[in-house]
Amino acid sequence: MKSEEIFSQKKKEPIVLRATSCAVEIPNPCSLVIFGASGDLTKRKIVPALYRLYKNGLLPENFFVLGISRTQMNTDQFREKMYSSVREAFPKEVDDSAWKEFVLKLYYSPVEYAFPESYSQPLKEMLPQLEKKYQTGGNRIVYLAIPPTLYENVILNLGLIGLSREVGGYTHVVIEKPFGRDLDSARRLNGILRNSFGEKQIFRIDHYLALETVQNILMFRFANSIFEPLWNRRYIDHIQITVAETLGIEQRAGYYEETGVLRDMFQNHIFQLLALTAMEPPVTFGAEPIRDEKVKVFRSIRPFPLDDLNDDVVIGQYGRGEIDQKLVLGYREESGVSKTSITPTFAAIKVMIDNWRWHGVPFYLRSGKRLSKRKTEISIHFKPVPHLMFSNTLNEPIEPNTLILRVHPDEGMNLILQTKNPGAEVCLNPISMDFSYQRDVLMDAYEWVLLNCMGDDQLLFVREDGVEQTWSLLTPVTEKLESSTPTETFPNYAAGSSGPEGAAKLIEREGRTWRPL
Ligand code: BG6
Repeated sequence: MKSEEIFSQKKKEPIVLRATSCAVEIPNPCSLVIFGASGDLTKRKIVPALYRLYKNGLLPENFFVLGISRTQMNTDQFREKMYSSVREAFPKEVDDSAWKEFVLKLYYSPVEYAFPESYSQPLKEMLPQLEKKYQTGGNRIVYLAIPPTLYENVILNLGLIGLSREVGGYTHVVIEKPFGRDLDSARRLNGILRNSFGEKQIFRIDHYLALETVQNILMFRFANSIFEPLWNRRYIDHIQITVAETLGIEQRAGYYEETGVLRDMFQNHIFQLLALTAMEPPVTFGAEPIRDEKVKVFRSIRPFPLDDLNDDVVIGQYGRGEIDQKLVLGYREESGVSKTSITPTFAAIKVMIDNWRWHGVPFYLRSGKRLSKRKTEISIHFKPVPHLMFSNTLNEPIEPNTLILRVHPDEGMNLILQTKNPGAEVCLNPISMDFSYQRDVLMDAYEWVLLNCMGDDQLLFVREDGVEQTWSLLTPVTEKLESSTPTETFPNYAAGSSGPEGAAKLIEREGRTWRPL
């Protein structure tokens, strides 16, 4: 395939992303109201993603951003702040002429989140005026980039002032994870959202779904006929999903102490990767049929055995160690973390899916902070050949075929096959058929999130029943662990290692091994 120009520099022209049918559509005119505009997410992700989209000609000409938060500043100060953020995000990329045009689309107004009367000026006066100026046709996106403790208040107030009503165009509300911290709180949040917004208006973000390599899982499975016949219990021995990070908790002790790895990574990102890997083919490639199939996977997951939880769930917390030849602190030594914290920073779990396709095939999932490498991948481990006809000459068992879907880094995939090594004897050599994406052609997850939300497409977002189903699987597990983990259990792995010993035992007990990090 010929690699063509990836991003057109001219605005308003469809962008050609390699293959002939891959033009990214420019969405219709709309506005974006960001709650939490002075916060970290706006600075690190949302505005840099918007700038990149603008620069690459992927935002509608009739578009503006109204930033809202508690910080007292004016539009000029907000624009300056955003300039520094974008420069920080793309030190080499900020193109002044594009920035000069883009910055004029940014506006700001302060509010007090708890007082609906303070919403009037920005949302009942400023927003309609700007909508008129930019001719956005009433299409509005309200992005809640605020701490989860504020969700309830802000959503109620949006309903009270009538901002959830659709007048002329659409009104979408975008909500970040964590979506609740257990089943009850997720249900409550869904209920509050439902009082003011319809499900079609609600865009629950899981940024993993927007990663190009994650979107590729479905294309790879359902646009190729050679793998689907093998994608089941007859040919697959087991599946591993790994999300390993070298990072610690950064400045997020407050959040992480309340969350831990099961809530932070498994309930959302890892269960989504699992669903995309295990789901049945949907009838059409649309948000509802795909989300229906994912929920069917969640419903088929066997509940975890609470009485013998240690057989299927291993948790860990990092102690001191070395990452990239630098000494790093243990979790309990991080600022803001309790010295006796039992919050897990690592988990490995075994999941069984009780349906026709996956009966008896274990899915081993693991994720942790401060591990030796940053790596996210899904590996499909096929069964060994049924009869060892080379056993007279080969002393070792033949390594079964493995297909690895690399989410990052080095986005791509490889298939490990056996071939004959040149020479007279029977000598096998595992080779890897490899495909790597070019890093610079991939759009950032937040660029996709924003485009899909503007384009009214919920494919990359999580539906109410999906959220509740995953919480209903994990809530009994987190409750049991929190009530039964003694403080002296931790730390049980060193920073820079591949996790606690128990994680290796979880899989080795069943005659298998984790892929190396
Ligand atoms: C976030 C978690 O959702 O995902 C973080 O809250 C984690 O703790 C991050 O570090 C990982 O995302 P990525 O894209 O860096 O793999």
